[in-house]
Amino acid sequence: MKKIIFTGFSPNLTGRDVLVALKFLCLPWKWFTLLDACGPIGFSLINGKYIKIAEEKLKQYFKIKYAYTFDSGRSALYFALKSLRAGEGDEILTQAYTCVVVPNAICQTGAKPVYVDICNDFNMDPEDLEKKITHKSKILIIQHTFGLPAQLGKLLLIAKKYNLKVVEDCAHSFGAKYNGQFVGTFGDIGMFSFGADKTISCVRGGALITKNSELADKIKQYQNNLPLPLMSKTIQHLLHYPLFFVGKPLYGIKIGKVLLYIAKKFNIINHIIYKPEKSGHPVPFYPARLANALAQILINQLQEVDEINDHRRRIAKLYTNFVHNKKVRHPTSDIRHPKLRYTILTKHPRKMHDYAKKHGIILGNWYNTVIAPADIDLEKIGYKKGDCPNAELLASQSINLPTNRCTTEKDAKRIVKVINQFNRPVA
Ligand SMILES: Cc1ncc(COP(=O)(O)O)c(C=O)c1O
Repeated sequence: MKKIIFTGFSPNLTGRDVLVALKFLCLPWKWFTLLDACGPIGFSLINGKYIKIAEEKLKQYFKIKYAYTFDSGRSALYFALKSLRAGEGDEILTQAYTCVVVPNAICQTGAKPVYVDICNDFNMDPEDLEKKITHKSKILIIQHTFGLPAQLGKLLLIAKKYNLKVVEDCAHSFGAKYNGQFVGTFGDIGMFSFGADKTISCVRGGALITKNSELADKIKQYQNNLPLPLMSKTIQHLLHYPLFFVGKPLYGIKIGKVLLYIAKKFNIINHIIYKPEKSGHPVPFYPARLANALAQILINQLQEVDEINDHRRRIAKLYTNFVHNKKVRHPTSDIRHPKLRYTILTKHPRKMHDYAKKHGIILGNWYNTVIAPADIDLEKIGYKKGDCPNAELLASQSINLPTNRCTTEKDAKRIVKVINQFNRPVA
């Protein structure tokens, strides 16, 4: 049986993460340990020492004074915007070719998202940004898509000119650098996601970093006022590990596929985006703090982030050098950056997905609509067709190739071969 190659599907998952998850899951008498009672070997499921340790590690990694964790990147973004006093009557500039949770976070503050078009590198177009600024513009969200830094030099100059506060959305770009400096450390606040498919992951988590002490105080206050994550949600997130660990290798013989389908259908594992979020509504169990158990998994992954990113660079280089199908465009072949996913463009993305699938390769679909996922209500988040034509065009042609550490060089060569063979199969 040929190995199935996945682009998403919890690509960072390791046996060690599974052991940590099982340790928490299988010792229920420890779940209720009080934080104060957490000795050096004590732990509890939702609250405990690992949250602070993870925040310390983030500070050390970015050499920055303040770092705070949250249940997700979307919650972190919401609190970043709140700390910058976003609210009714304000406009927040954000790029199209993004995930719906970004405009949702904006709308939840009462502010209005204003969509800026992108360049061919999938990042914000400085020229279009300047056109979209009005007297109501207050905050600029700079997204570093797929691990490729945005044009920070130009964007930050514009932000300065119009007195805009800046939040860097580094959901895709943990460890990426611009002119030798980590992205996330340029703006007023940097936001990170530790969702299942991100650079490093604890199934669901997020963080904010800042060097500004006033902002840090506000963020900390928001964090302190948050409820602890639900026990049931935390268990659900931990179950993700053994289920994916077993389900992925068995996917090819359908057992894994059925197992993961059932697990999702019956809410045994979490959904990346819940149904209410697709029409701009919050979910009842978030925002919350990061769970202690997930923080321990995050700490382990943080220790390996540079290795993980080097692997991504190596795999991306292979695609850059060897994918030479004339029907494929590589809009960003700069191999210095740790690409979360290597995105190519084709006029026939659906057919390429199907073709690769026949060869045991599940390619990624970020972003196949101007604001993803495809089944959201664009009107609810204030996007009108034609607002960002280049983002719409690139979204209609995007396909991602995996760069994650489960993708070996041998796998990448298999992908290259399949992509090069793809020749617009007859419908
Ligand atoms: C560009 C971008 N920003 C923010 C987020 C939010 O991250 P999270 O899933 O941790 O809430 C995502 C999620 O995929 C994203 O793609």
